[in-house]
Amino acid sequence: MSSSMSFRAVLTGATGGIGRAMAFALAPRSESLLLLGRNAQALNELRASLQNRFPTLTINCLAGDLLDADYLKEISNYARQNEVNLLVNNAGVNQFDAVKNLNSEAQARIIETNLLAPMQLTQALLPTLLKQVSAQIIQVGSIFGYIGYPGNAAYCASKFGLRGYAQALARELVNTPVKVKYLAPRATATAINEGAVDSLNKALGVTSDSPAFVATQLVHLIDSDRFDLKLGFPERLFVLLNQLFPRINDKAIQKQLPTIEKHWSAS
Ligand SMILES: NC(=O)c1ccc[n+]([C@@H]2O[C@H](COP(=O)([O-])OP(=O)(O)OC[C@H]3O[C@@H](n4cnc5c(N)ncnc54)[C@H](OP(=O)(O)O)[C@@H]3O)[C@@H](O)[C@H]2O)c1
Repeated sequence: MSSSMSFRAVLTGATGGIGRAMAFALAPRSESLLLLGRNAQALNELRASLQNRFPTLTINCLAGDLLDADYLKEISNYARQNEVNLLVNNAGVNQFDAVKNLNSEAQARIIETNLLAPMQLTQALLPTLLKQVSAQIIQVGSIFGYIGYPGNAAYCASKFGLRGYAQALARELVNTPVKVKYLAPRATATAINEGAVDSLNKALGVTSDSPAFVATQLVHLIDSDRFDLKLGFPERLFVLLNQLFPRINDKAIQKQLPTIEKHWSAS
């Protein structure tokens, strides 16, 4: 997909902090945009403000739950009818807590939303994407898709899994018009972190990016030939250390553990 091409995009999690910013970042380059989320009113309000700024853009909304198989069928019908060439799997959830405190429903919800739903949506849209001159699938992962971090075991499992899925599929589709990529934000100022995670990040001096910054990086990744894009320094260095010298990260995270534990027991 060259930078001159315009998108016919499907965006999940459009009503969230990062998703909303992504919708605005994709809009100037898009012919059509399908906004997805569970809250119909929030989707309609987003559509109205986007349409106001981009009057010629075709914007549709479809409210529903990505864990509902019928909803995925509706999205895939839309994709076929509208010759979609860009899928951004951005919807996600987390529950910051110790494994011993996380109930099995919450654990399942994290894996189903962050890993299974993007896999199923990818599979459902693939026949349409393969028919386009060029197309992309962006899996929105996380720096926690490279680094296991206490209080986020299920979330890390989902984002590591999503990265493995993306890499395998990218290699499987190398001789097709479809590119598969992985965007890895670091902490970003959105509702997903409200409460314990925000105060933990402050206590540890962790920097949060703005959703608008993450959205500009999405467009850079689409325009680049890279497979993945990890956002932030020193996070990129920690990812490298985690791969080459994991004991260094083990020790650094062990030092943070009392602070982390204080925050999960407070949540
Ligand atoms: N914020 C961060 O620090 C950070 C860092 C790294 C990666 N990320 C990743 O970035 C992505 C966006 O997160 P965010 O920070 O923007 O979070 P957010 O503000 O909480 O937004 C999450 C979005 O996902 C949607 N969603 C959740 N479960 C869904 C389901 N079952 N069906 C349909 N939609 C569902 C939500 O829709 P509703 O409005 O219906 O709930 C919402 O639009 C996620 O994949 C997250 O893991 C975030």
